[in-house]
Amino acid sequence: SVIRLSEYRPPAWSVQHVDLAFDLGIDRTEVAATLAMVRQADEPVRLDGEGLELLELTVDGRRLGEGEYILANGVLEVAVEGDRCTIATRVAIRPAENTALEGLYLSGSRENGFLLTQCEAEGFRHITFFPDRPDVLSRYTVTLRADRQRFPVLLAGGNPDGAGELDGGRHWARFVDPHPKPSYLFAVVAGRLERISHDYTTADGRAVALHIWAEPDAIGRCGYAMDSLIRSMQWDERVYGRNYDLDVFHVVATHDFNMGAMENKGLNIFNAKYLLADPDSSTDDEYRHVEAVVAHEYFHNWSGNRVTCRDWFQLSLKEGLTVFREQSFSADMNSVPLKRIEDVALLRRAQFPEDAGPLSHPVRPSQYSEINNFYTATVYEKGSELVRMLAGHLGPDGFRKGMDLYFDRHDGQAATIEDFLAALGEANGIDLSPYLAWYGQAGTPRLTAEGRFDPAQRRYRLTLRQRTPATAGQPAKQPLPIPVRLSLFDREGHALPLRLEGEGTHGGTERTVVLDTAEHSFVFEDVSAAPVPSLLRGFSAPVILESDYQPDELAILLRHDADGFNRWEAGQQLAGLAYDDCRDGNTGGSALAAWTGALADIFAEGRLDDALLAELLTPPGEIELVERQPERDPERIREARQAMLRDLAGRIGVAALRGRYESLRAASSATLDAASQARRQLKRRVLDLLALVDPEGTRERALAQYEDAPAMTDRLAALTTLATYAPTAAEAPIAHFRQRYDGNALALDKWFAMQALLPGADALARVQALENDPAFTLKNPNRVQSLLGSFARANPTGFHRADGASYRWLADRLVAIDALNPQVAARVATAFNGWKRLEPVRREAAHASVAALAARTDLSRDLTDILARVALG
Ligand code: ARG
Ligand code: ZN
Repeated sequence: SVIRLSEYRPPAWSVQHVDLAFDLGIDRTEVAATLAMVRQADEPVRLDGEGLELLELTVDGRRLGEGEYILANGVLEVAVEGDRCTIATRVAIRPAENTALEGLYLSGSRENGFLLTQCEAEGFRHITFFPDRPDVLSRYTVTLRADRQRFPVLLAGGNPDGAGELDGGRHWARFVDPHPKPSYLFAVVAGRLERISHDYTTADGRAVALHIWAEPDAIGRCGYAMDSLIRSMQWDERVYGRNYDLDVFHVVATHDFNMGAMENKGLNIFNAKYLLADPDSSTDDEYRHVEAVVAHEYFHNWSGNRVTCRDWFQLSLKEGLTVFREQSFSADMNSVPLKRIEDVALLRRAQFPEDAGPLSHPVRPSQYSEINNFYTATVYEKGSELVRMLAGHLGPDGFRKGMDLYFDRHDGQAATIEDFLAALGEANGIDLSPYLAWYGQAGTPRLTAEGRFDPAQRRYRLTLRQRTPATAGQPAKQPLPIPVRLSLFDREGHALPLRLEGEGTHGGTERTVVLDTAEHSFVFEDVSAAPVPSLLRGFSAPVILESDYQPDELAILLRHDADGFNRWEAGQQLAGLAYDDCRDGNTGGSALAAWTGALADIFAEGRLDDALLAELLTPPGEIELVERQPERDPERIREARQAMLRDLAGRIGVAALRGRYESLRAASSATLDAASQARRQLKRRVLDLLALVDPEGTRERALAQYEDAPAMTDRLAALTTLATYAPTAAEAPIAHFRQRYDGNALALDKWFAMQALLPGADALARVQALENDPAFTLKNPNRVQSLLGSFARANPTGFHRADGASYRWLADRLVAIDALNPQVAARVATAFNGWKRLEPVRREAAHASVAALAARTDLSRDLTDILARVALG
């Protein structure tokens, strides 16, 4: 059944207060719920409930018999008279059997594991009967009772409100949350956990006890998360004026989690991957992810919890906004241009392909059959880009004013995207409603730019046009407001002062024009020579730019643009043209020469920041390059890209690369400061380039780097280079790594993923062998992602074998995963997205596998929904 935004109706009954009592057990837990309900419409009470064993139901204290209610299709319906009632239920649930990891479930082993919950989006209905929708906000009181030995720690969201002993070695603890919240933010944790703590005082003077909880073997790896949490709290106070609002804040790590993390009120729960970090088992990237995800979940306390979503169509209201806040925080903590490069690269790798295929959907979808399938790059990453455009439009002060009004006006409410735009606009006296079209229209707009210089008139006419290709179910598209931040450069690389026709004075050297029609020309006056335009600076809109740049023009920007992001962007555009040359077998092309020449010069000058240089030396990835092909042949894409890189390495020169590698190696350390991280990143790029032109030397260097790496980043980089370019030499280190990290789940995940990502047709056999490793299991989402997910979603040459063997193998595994965990199966299945753009042989093979799967009737709603949409192509 399909849920539609157009059919939204407010809840017929609200729940003012919920009292929950849990008798916790691993095999069986009993949940008693008392709901104080108030009528809003002339309808019976309807409560959602899935997989619950109903033990007792009373209305206003009177127990109902079987004929007095209807329980069907996951809904409990009770006819009630009057405007208020108290409904009480008692149910039994079975946590240890819950392999879907939605609702109350067991993390880890029966002997040592702990119980926890995941409710977003619709997990609460697996715990008790309730109107499980985000626009029902209630006050929660939660009492937990359990065996003290087995469950020494009992946690729920809200402030602690008493604890004590019970007979038979049991104990209890109670929690009261003063802030009304929707059911998806409810959480409980119980088990043998340890903690680290910090006393924090908010800017508005509240004393808050911060606790991070993990299993005993992991508690020593929580320090960086605590540090990140403190910095996040301070940042939200300083930048948005938002303070935390309870006396305690708990964060818990689990190895069994479907997503990254969850912002449950006062009790965030994290996939261990985004909480634990130590130098011996985490890479620099992983440290940054911990910092970002800790911030993200914390920021949700305002953008998500205090102001939540009216319905799940509005998901990006909290997710897009919170990703934007998280990205701004990370940029402030690290580097603005590097963060922007990382974010744009992710958007292009994950969101653009999604938007170009059968799974495309607007940032605010208009319908869904399974909401879990809409926690997507579009809702998150493109959603963040839309907030960024709005923030850019209003400027820092205007955006802050707008956010203040939004939080103020909607505090304690379930809001919509319209509410958000209205608050931002009204606070600034600006009508932002034209931006609503971005939320409703799927697909990545193509922006074309054409420049004409008129030397006699000293005028430069820049014509911008937009067009959005049709997407699944959305054939007709309308023009969107596209802010284009731009500068004009002369051939020496100096930015020119800008004066737009009809405007009296010269502006600065950068300005933003907004294209809000299909086509518009902007005329710049007083231009002395044909300029090189630098467009979409800072990636001012999430579009694909199709310009008529000549390679030498892009090389000017790559060499001279003062802004780090735009230098990188010019390099990416130029690399795209160079790729086109290589793909067509034209290794003598002018674009390739311009790209390698500019980079070789920049490399030799040695003035650029190490991290930015590493980024410049990385052309668009194999997945991004798909877009430049009419038909996709992953082998040919890889060959052409590798040819470009080999050419680049040759142009820089073996001696220069070796010299740089040695000096970076001499300066290596295990510390986390930005300069050391940048050195490690560049060292890795240089080593990979060396592998293409100096195989023997690289083998020796990588072996040595593996041996004496002071921390994980260098160790994993060396191992990856060896495994990619010197497979035989890699065998011993791969076995050594497996031994060394036995029992360290997060390190082993990287070991599985590294091998799953190795290119070529033998990747499937490698992955199949790894399935037999005793540490492999289909039950753990991280393990499935690291082996199957990495292979299917991020190893194009391995997955897209011309004989279709990988497709058939994955289809088989999807059925097995689906029986355990539908959300994970659905996510892995998105690997089939885009099959229609493959070359004919692969296309047919992929389609056969997708069609056979889609024809089955025994799969979950999650997987069925993905397959049905993907099968349409
Ligand atoms: N709200 C969480 C976050 O982004 C993600 C929860 C996703 N849950 C799901 N069932 N898809 O911070
Ligand atoms: Zn989120």
